[in-house]
Amino acid sequence: MRDVAIVSAGMTQFGELWESSLRDLFVEAAVEALRGAKADHLDAIFVGNMSAGQFVGQEHLGPLLADQLGMVGVPAGRVESACASGGLALRTAFVEVASGMSDLVLAAGVEKMTDATDVTEVLATASDQETEAYHGITFPGLYAMIARAHMAAHGTTEEDLSWVSVKNHRHGALNPKAQFRSQVTLEEVMRSSMVAEPLRLLHCSPVSDGAAAVLLCPLDQAKRYTDRPVRIAASALATGSMALADRKDIAFLDAVERSAQRAFHQAGMGPTDVQVAEVHDCFAIAEICCVEALGLVERGKGNAAARTGYTALGGCIPVNTSGGLKAKGHPVGATGIAQAIEIFEQLRGEAGERQVKGARVGLAQNMGGSGASSVVHIFEGV
Ligand code: COA
Repeated sequence: MRDVAIVSAGMTQFGELWESSLRDLFVEAAVEALRGAKADHLDAIFVGNMSAGQFVGQEHLGPLLADQLGMVGVPAGRVESACASGGLALRTAFVEVASGMSDLVLAAGVEKMTDATDVTEVLATASDQETEAYHGITFPGLYAMIARAHMAAHGTTEEDLSWVSVKNHRHGALNPKAQFRSQVTLEEVMRSSMVAEPLRLLHCSPVSDGAAAVLLCPLDQAKRYTDRPVRIAASALATGSMALADRKDIAFLDAVERSAQRAFHQAGMGPTDVQVAEVHDCFAIAEICCVEALGLVERGKGNAAARTGYTALGGCIPVNTSGGLKAKGHPVGATGIAQAIEIFEQLRGEAGERQVKGARVGLAQNMGGSGASSVVHIFEGV
């Protein structure tokens, strides 16, 4: 296995982007990543995408997007793991470079959600069809059940959930690429309309369009493209039971724990080595569960992390400095790559007003559906 680095990144604005098609978004992000490294060729392209077939009626993204990028002939394919598609595309590109199969690989993610009229139903296809979606449950509904279970097991309150949103909107306000750049107060979150009890509008990530791309190469070739490469110290994937009913404890995301343990083992590091993290806060309760499963806080104590400032910028372990899925937006297939870009920028000291001073090690965790798949990457500035 070779050491692998990210040498460049590109990302569109996230939001309701009526003027741009799926292919426009991909090309914008990919060209920015290529230009940043002054690269004029690619050995392979992997594109994370959850459901372009259902959202915009376009399948077979690999050749289409390679062609749109002016790279006809380059091996290219789509990678899918629901909302973790971007994370899995990054992992696929990492394995391609680490194994020696390819030298210069683009890992991208793209989703165009706002053109679809049935977004909630399309997203629900990533839950268990027989025991969940068939009966009408949606993702807000599934995460509402996780929230209720966490409340019952650990005394988590609606206010705890709301502090996650207040924090992530505060971070998002500092991110020029974020869908929402407005701060929200605790009262505004707690008064926002109910979506699936106890989850309110401002506890949910939005429906978004966007794309993101990173360029990977062997670490020992990285200086050809940049003087500040970021090493991928670990790349781990894990799965868990798809249906909530099959899980031992629905308040705990065991696929996230498994992926984190594998990643820390690979990197030869532990949770206390991480100085900045992007975690999958598709709903406020998800951030609470993820920081516990990653080992960033003790099990059952995730509820206090945002309220006490522990996971805020300036706190012990800043989480979702980009604004997270909540404020930055969640174009599902692009999210995992966008998380990696936030950590890439943090470790290069390029995060502007969101910069975590002196950050050398960062983590990105991306999960699919209600947590049945999870990808964790650990990054190190070199
Ligand atoms: N956070 C903050 N504001 C939001 C928002 C969100 N998540 N979603 C919508 N808004 C805002 C819109 O910008 C709009 O504001 P405006 O009136 O000032 O223009 C307003 O709320 C109404 O927007 P609309 O699109 O009509 O909302 P909606 O009720 O159709 O959708 C949700 C709201 C929460 C249902 C939708 O965002 C959603 O489904 N989110 C979850 C997505 C998801 O499940 N992702 C996969 C996770 S596993």
